[in-house]
Amino acid sequence: MYVHIIALVALFFAGQIHGALFGDPAHLPKGKVYDYIIVGSGPGGSPVAARLAEEPALNVLVIEAGPTGFDVTDIEVPALTPYLQPTSSFDWNYTMIPQPGLDGRAFPFSRGKVLGGCTALNWMFWVRCARDDYDRFARVTGDDGWSWDAILPLWNKIERLVPPLDRHNTNGEIDSSIHGKNGAINISVHNAPYPTDEPVVRAAQELGGDFRLIEDYNSGDPLGLGWYQGSIGNGVRNDAATAYLVPALQRKNFDVLINTQVTKLVQTGVQGGKPVFRGVLFAQSRNAPTFALNASKEVILAAGAFNTPQILLLSGIGPSADLSTLGIPTVIDHPNVGQNLSDQPIVPLPYGAAEEQDDIYSNLARNATFFQESLSEWETKRSGIFTNGANNQLGFFRIPATDSIFEGQPDPSAGPTAPHLEIVPFPGAFAFLGTLPPTGFFTILAAVLLTPTSRGSVTLSSPDPFTQPVINPNFLNTTFDIAALRHGLRAADNFSHAHAWDGFLTGRALTWALVDVDVDAEVDEFARESAITIWHPTGTAAMARCGTPAEVGGVVDPDLRVKGVEGLRVVDASVLPFVPAGHPQAVIYAFAERAAELIKSGHRACL
Ligand SMILES: Cc1cc2nc3c(=O)[nH]c(=O)nc-3n(C[C@H](O)[C@H](O)[C@H](O)COP(=O)(O)OP(=O)(O)OC[C@H]3O[C@@H](n4cnc5c(N)ncnc54)[C@H](O)[C@@H]3O)c2cc1C
Ligand SMILES: *[C@@H]1O[C@H](CO)[C@@H](O)[C@H](O)[C@H]1NC(C)=O
Ligand SMILES: *[C@@H]1O[C@H](CO)[C@@H](O)[C@H](O)[C@H]1NC(C)=O
Ligand SMILES: *[C@@H]1O[C@H](CO)[C@@H](O)[C@H](O)[C@H]1NC(C)=O
Ligand SMILES: *[C@@H]1O[C@H](CO)[C@@H](O)[C@H](O)[C@H]1NC(C)=O
Ligand SMILES: *[C@@H]1O[C@H](CO)[C@@H](O)[C@H](O)[C@H]1NC(C)=O
Ligand SMILES: *[C@@H]1O[C@H](CO)[C@@H](O)[C@H](O)[C@H]1NC(C)=O
Ligand SMILES: *[C@@H]1O[C@H](CO)[C@@H](O)[C@H](O)[C@H]1NC(C)=O
Repeated sequence: MYVHIIALVALFFAGQIHGALFGDPAHLPKGKVYDYIIVGSGPGGSPVAARLAEEPALNVLVIEAGPTGFDVTDIEVPALTPYLQPTSSFDWNYTMIPQPGLDGRAFPFSRGKVLGGCTALNWMFWVRCARDDYDRFARVTGDDGWSWDAILPLWNKIERLVPPLDRHNTNGEIDSSIHGKNGAINISVHNAPYPTDEPVVRAAQELGGDFRLIEDYNSGDPLGLGWYQGSIGNGVRNDAATAYLVPALQRKNFDVLINTQVTKLVQTGVQGGKPVFRGVLFAQSRNAPTFALNASKEVILAAGAFNTPQILLLSGIGPSADLSTLGIPTVIDHPNVGQNLSDQPIVPLPYGAAEEQDDIYSNLARNATFFQESLSEWETKRSGIFTNGANNQLGFFRIPATDSIFEGQPDPSAGPTAPHLEIVPFPGAFAFLGTLPPTGFFTILAAVLLTPTSRGSVTLSSPDPFTQPVINPNFLNTTFDIAALRHGLRAADNFSHAHAWDGFLTGRALTWALVDVDVDAEVDEFARESAITIWHPTGTAAMARCGTPAEVGGVVDPDLRVKGVEGLRVVDASVLPFVPAGHPQAVIYAFAERAAELIKSGHRACL
């Protein structure tokens, strides 16, 4: 394995490697002391690790459960993303428990098990989310450092805006002045047109209002319909591994261990009356030998919103009643670990497409020649539809304050700049959106509920670290959520009625055509039988202000340190106390960049 990995690395980086990528824990350098051990390499872990390694005096180790995804076509080619779901060899293949709010359905919950985490499998939507999302993070933690204005300069370190490959004029599609030009991650607008571009833009111009065209939804005020920005550069996916870890591997003080799962944290002492957790145990599989390492400074959990709480619980940091049921001794009773899981449901709405060539994805699935031609165009010329993400526009809108939905229900959005709902037009139908008929051509208008009030949980069914945690997003558990989603479905249907779609769409299709959109119960039933996840779980190790969890809630403090514990921090989607009203990867990169600054400066918000 080791030889194989090193050979791969040599090939990939043409011999520029100085740090090391290890495929087997037995090959880690004996006696080397790591200052920081980072568990997981998604957009939480990779930036923290890479920024800490910029200090030559610090030794940094990343431990990642999955393999590398370098040179994997389905990962590199942006438009092939749908082929990575619902399962792939780079996925944990998790499933959720049956959801009462979704007619008792349970379905797969994609999570990257690969260097780069979910950013190697995700749909690459690059959305900073709303000013009010950040300002609420600042408000609930009492730390202004999380506010929109305080985070703003970090985009220069994160983003590198690159021009589209087809060199089309991007005026009106993106405000380049607000984007970073020299950061770690290449971002771009679409590299090729999609057939839906013209009707979508004309419908937005015709309807205005919620669908008014905006130049750039990353300004802090995302309301309106804008052009897709993706974590894509020159027609190739940029993920946390390619953007942050590959450059950092040129440093001697930076090591990465792959195919290895952290199974438990180990208490290494007591400091100021608090347990210290600087030790990790790790293994390649249930029956493989277990290894141990202690960090001299900190262990940083970045295993994602499911696996971070799993590791905490396995280590005796969690609700003591749950732990004792499993026979895990409680080290510190931490009632909120794994609680408050928040995720956003998406409902794909199928419309008939009049012309078969306008359904790109059905054609790719059914016509091998078309698929091969598109792939070779990407491989040989870096042009064509395979250089694009899965769609070219998205819209964000609010439910009007006067709507009866807010009677007896406070507005769950972060504030007036934050949308409740999103509409995403897709140029074709994907298999993961449900069983597709073998014939017919479609355009999908998907509606997403961005501000769910339902809260679920991640718990353990077993003290075995290789058993998947129990995932319960608790979708559509509240009256607000179903009513808000209903509003979203109706708004999307209104969008389809613009004259701009005449001759392009043939009307509602499949079971959506059987729904009377004016009847609440029918729309709700359609939502419950067809909603899936948009894969944005957050909140399972939430940050809160200084104070004990019993007094102020949360799991981590405003510096992302685990409360009541020394030597342990969480930097990933788990810490977000509210799911941001958009797509979370950019937010998590920003959190990770700030976390690196907090760690380097020794900042301490709480005693
Ligand atoms: C299919 C899909 C599409 C998405 N589309 C978008 C999108 O278009 N735009 C957007 O903004 N967001 C999108 N997201 C969400 C976004 O990718 C995630 O929110 C983000 O990657 C979460 O970052 P993270 O660091 O918290 O965790 P992750 O990215 O999940 O990274 C965690 C890493 O830790 C590793 N790990 C877990 N447990 C252990 C362990 N015990 N030991 C060692 N390593 C471990 C995992 O293998 C993984 O590599 C999508 C997600 C998915 C799955
Ligand atoms: C997930 O399923 C795929 C097959 O779809 C398989 O190749 C892969 O190994 C599985 N992943 C895990 C972690 O078991
Ligand atoms: C990002 O784009 C730059 C400039 O086009 C290119 O040199 C670099 O290789 C790209 N980075 C990645 C990680 O693809
Ligand atoms: C980690 O520290 C603990 C407490 O000091 C010690 O018992 C253990 O042996 C150390 N483990 C390693 C791998 O050094
Ligand atoms: C869940 O989150 C809400 C909103 O932040 C908070 O009021 C509540 O205390 C949290 N509950 C737990 C168990 O953390
Ligand atoms: C399949 O795609 C090729 C290449 O685009 C095209 O020439 C051909 O007509 C398509 N076949 C069918 C049956 O649509
Ligand atoms: C809401 O969630 C709670 C807790 O999981 C559950 O007991 C209840 O049945 C759910 N109610 C609905 C309407 O989904
Ligand atoms: C849909 O359009 C109708 C007719 O213009 C309007 O009354 C209704 O408010 C719209 N619904 C939404 C959710 O936008």
